Amino acid sequence: MTHHHISLTQCFCPSLFLLMIIGLTTWSYLYDYRSLHVRTHPNIEGESIAVREGRLSPSRRLLDCRDECSVPPERRFDCARDRALSRAECETRGCCYVPLPAGLSGGPPWCFYPPSYPGYKMGSFFPTSKGRAANLTRSKPSYLPRDIATLRLEVAEETAGRLHLTLKDPSSPRYEVPLSPPPFEPPSAIQNSLYSIEFHSDPFGFVVRRKSNAQVLLNTTVAPLLFADQYLQMSTFLPSRLISGLGEHYTPLTLDLNWTSVTLWNRDMAPHSDANLYGSHPFYLVQEGDSLAHGVFLLNSNAMEVLLQPMPALTWVSVGGILDFYIFLGPDPQSVVRQYQEVIGYPMMPPYWALGFHLCRWGYRSTNETRSIAKRMREAKFPLDVQWNDLDYADKRRVFTFDPVHFGDLPEMVEEFHQEGLRYILILDPGISSSSQPGSYWPYDEGLRREVFIKNSTGHTLIGKVWPGPTAFPDFTNPETVSWWEECIRDFHAKVPVDGLWIDMNEPASFVHGSVDGCPDTDLEKPPYVPDVIGGQLNFGTLCMSGQQNLSTHYNLHNLYGLTEAIATYSALLKVRGSRPFVLSRSSFPGLGRFSGHWTGDVRSDWEQLRFSVPAVLLFGLFGVPLVGADVCGFGGNTNEELCVRWTQLGAFYPFMRNHNDRPNVPQEPFVFSQEAQAAMRSALLLRYSLLPLLYTLFLRAHSSADTVARALFLEFPTDSNSRTIDRQFLWGSSLLISPVLEQGTVELSAYLPPGMWYSFHDGQPYRSKGQYFLLSAPLDAINLHVRGGYIIPQQVPALTTTVARRNPFNLTVALSAEGWARGELYWDDGDSLDTYERGDYSHILFMARQSQLVSDPVRVSGALDGLVLGQVRVFGVPSPPKAVMANGETVTDFTYRSDTMSLTVASLSLPMTEEFTLQWML
Ligand code: NOJ
Repeated sequence: MTHHHISLTQCFCPSLFLLMIIGLTTWSYLYDYRSLHVRTHPNIEGESIAVREGRLSPSRRLLDCRDECSVPPERRFDCARDRALSRAECETRGCCYVPLPAGLSGGPPWCFYPPSYPGYKMGSFFPTSKGRAANLTRSKPSYLPRDIATLRLEVAEETAGRLHLTLKDPSSPRYEVPLSPPPFEPPSAIQNSLYSIEFHSDPFGFVVRRKSNAQVLLNTTVAPLLFADQYLQMSTFLPSRLISGLGEHYTPLTLDLNWTSVTLWNRDMAPHSDANLYGSHPFYLVQEGDSLAHGVFLLNSNAMEVLLQPMPALTWVSVGGILDFYIFLGPDPQSVVRQYQEVIGYPMMPPYWALGFHLCRWGYRSTNETRSIAKRMREAKFPLDVQWNDLDYADKRRVFTFDPVHFGDLPEMVEEFHQEGLRYILILDPGISSSSQPGSYWPYDEGLRREVFIKNSTGHTLIGKVWPGPTAFPDFTNPETVSWWEECIRDFHAKVPVDGLWIDMNEPASFVHGSVDGCPDTDLEKPPYVPDVIGGQLNFGTLCMSGQQNLSTHYNLHNLYGLTEAIATYSALLKVRGSRPFVLSRSSFPGLGRFSGHWTGDVRSDWEQLRFSVPAVLLFGLFGVPLVGADVCGFGGNTNEELCVRWTQLGAFYPFMRNHNDRPNVPQEPFVFSQEAQAAMRSALLLRYSLLPLLYTLFLRAHSSADTVARALFLEFPTDSNSRTIDRQFLWGSSLLISPVLEQGTVELSAYLPPGMWYSFHDGQPYRSKGQYFLLSAPLDAINLHVRGGYIIPQQVPALTTTVARRNPFNLTVALSAEGWARGELYWDDGDSLDTYERGDYSHILFMARQSQLVSDPVRVSGALDGLVLGQVRVFGVPSPPKAVMANGETVTDFTYRSDTMSLTVASLSLPMTEEFTLQWML
């Protein structure tokens, strides 16, 4: 029906078009939505010129109309992405111009490529050291300025699950992201690869299939490849609508394919929909169905737009660099995530204390105020591991200084914190104040001397404006900058022994567009096509694109700024402190997780932002940045008690948990609320602390095997179709399901439990799920948490700091499967030394339960576990009261059994963790 309707409306003759246009013009100007890029400019002259010049004959166009332009709207690929086109201009490009009536509109382009649109022609393959290559040539340049007529295609089948395809200009090198190539296998060693690839030579395109079921995963023949100096475009069919990734945006876990586009361009922008936010992650994962998934990574750091359409299909548009695609075949979603991280690097292992509670706000105006915050936390018995300061500490807001009046005894305060078992972190912005008296601010003077700053197009230091006023921006792609940065950190650390650094404003953000002197009027600042960035220009809220860095222009390197700063900061902390670095970065790019965690920026204190923090955290897991969280209770605007309680309960399950608040807002530290709210927050925090051994073990799995920590349900239950889009609940690893309250006034919650046995973590209440929703009570004092049958969760008696908690007895929660077995593990080390895993300086204990007995197997033991004992065991799913309980063959008397929930608790144990133990419950 739709199709028929289209063919009626599409075949305008030129004169009919003239009549139609009068009506359509008004309508189309009113119809202002982003994905409709064709405005009806009645450029009749352009059309007649094209006809006159023989580029377009009316008869040819009518023929196209009938044969070539009968493309259903959802399969149309926009031929006018780069700029608005009239019908004549569109047809001059050789594209179809078929306006849609109002009822069918909503995104499909009016100007689109006909299926036979000419493109590059592929020559024959020749072998290369990593695979094969071929040249692509086009006889006529495309419609884009500075089109590149000859391309080199390189194809490397790098592992059984990973394919690597690169398109570049063979005659003149272009900017490439400086990522060292991941390890690959020699072609002869690859057996049973999961993919096959076919090439279409004219016009060039390729099709990647999954061998096991012949499913097409990518098909780039759906639209032409374009490759010009500042416009690179490639489209592909998608085998399903379930696509996740392409961050950083304010979105649900799966993206909307209804003619939407997402822009990847790092920007200081509070999270809201349709905006490019702080980071860029040109990676997507598609759930194909049947538990299968694949992923695609476009290694390109230029400003980018990715268009999604309901075919389903996707179009990458980048304004520079090369097209460098990695394709990951899984076959399951978690394997896709691992294969992606094999390319970008596995995440760092955080220090143990970094998993504790962090407290921050902009507006702790002195050391005394900061001290009193930490003191009030302790007095009110809230766990706290890390006290933070925002910009308040800095003298005239200049980094690497501290305010002599209000923060004069900062070094002493930090020493006191350390003595109390606390850690201390402060903010470090990249902008270096450039307006101090020469000789009075070493970081700038020395930086100038060593030429560490980004330069403008005339070779002078580029000056932007941030908190301290005029600032210069270190170029972290310059090795000299990295050593200067290390010296700045070393000198500061000698006075103020910070435990980690919070690198903010590193998109980089600037309060003037480009620089205080503006930017030159060039194609770098105003490329022929500007992706749909907030502000409309690439240099808005940041530096001039013509800024000169050691590796290339800022145009190419902008999205890497935060990553390169994180690398320099990580390496400086490593050298200066000698233990595991902690860095928290706002800006991100693939690979950030190797050096840093991430927080989701300036979230508002409202319920919607609370809700969308769940997919934000899950997506950063896919991006290889597992240490992530949103500002608990919200950053912008005033929070309220109920929201802050719920946010603290959810935040207790963010891998990174920090309460942070903006200056003008009401306070939101846990101790400012009513006793009832405080009790709820305290119990959420203590719950988190009791589960830190599990969380730490999951981080080891992330570090060693690229497993996700906060895990989307579809990663763990790929065969369960109900799990595919769930992003209001999530897991820690495989075993713990978190079902937070995300709406105001909620006292009941409909929570999905994937197929299998589950138990309420709080009391062992069993749930046998077929994969269904359960209505659960959700009182304000607790968060719903379920442990999965078949798993054993390592815990520890909580305390007010991890320093103390790490010496407390361990506990185990054993959740028996329906068949009566369970397993779990604990990874333990000193929590702070470098490379404990790599050096083998750790303990690894396995736990197994079956046939009414629990045993441990210390497969590796290191000193850090010495003297630590197992104090208590809870067993869920014990069918009847035990007649007796034995530990290592000796009778235990301190046990209780609840027949309503069928749970057994064995207390007062003192079994050394370093030794094998057996616990039996005699039924
Ligand atoms: C912006 C950051 O996102 C926010 O967390 C911080 O408080 C302010 N900058 C001030 O430093």
